[in-house]
Amino acid sequence: MTARLNVNIDHVATVRQARRAPEPSVVAAAMICEQAGADGITIHLRGDRRHIQDADVRLLRESVTTYLNVEMAATEEMVKVAIEIQPDAVSLVPENRGEITTEGGLNVRTNIAIVRAAVNKLRESGIMASLFIDPDPHQIEAAHEVNAQQVELCTAAYAEATLGGRGIHGEGAVRANQELRRLREAAALAAQYGLHVAAGHGLTYRNVGAVARIGEIAEFNIGHNIIARSVFVGLDHAVREMRAAIDAAK
Ligand code: PXP
Repeated sequence: MTARLNVNIDHVATVRQARRAPEPSVVAAAMICEQAGADGITIHLRGDRRHIQDADVRLLRESVTTYLNVEMAATEEMVKVAIEIQPDAVSLVPENRGEITTEGGLNVRTNIAIVRAAVNKLRESGIMASLFIDPDPHQIEAAHEVNAQQVELCTAAYAEATLGGRGIHGEGAVRANQELRRLREAAALAAQYGLHVAAGHGLTYRNVGAVARIGEIAEFNIGHNIIARSVFVGLDHAVREMRAAIDAAK
């Protein structure tokens, strides 16, 4: 079975927010992604609201008919928003002020009480609770301990090793293979614990194939590279190409 693809449309909102303009519409983007074969839509409601706004989450909840996954920090404010809006899934992520993008996975072990409380509240209200973590056995064990239903393995270190041809030979290839091994082992361990396994961050048309061959990974959350490509080929085409890149790997 090939993995599901949730398209992260944060950067459609980034373009809109650059001018505080009404366009481009995130709802229109979500509809195009769904028509192009996306299995779901992912958005990140950041504390600083730099791209996705609260109103977007509400509008998307009303219009997305596939699956809506909202990434957020494990704060009381955010969990309250999620419980009110009822996305299908919430992925808890770390958030640091001033970061350009999420910098690695959540440290579940050192934030165990906060994460457990957030997971409990989400699950009680019927929302699937996913934790974005590094491919590290200690974090997987902690995710299991706090009763999460899914882990999303952070592919940033793997993706970084493959950038700009670095993964083709030499040091980049060695590092990319090491990171792939970590992802493979983490996916297997998470599955042994009965956790659903997702993956994402920094994935591209070029590097997604090797990760898509990891059988336990059932879901990808991919944003920046799809939206970047859509500037040149259109969003429908860009989504179809990513779908094809994932399917080709199996
Ligand atoms: N998964 C998580 C948890 C993320 O925070 C992000 C970035 O918002 C993504 C996936 C998508 O990453 P990218 O935009 O690099 O594809």
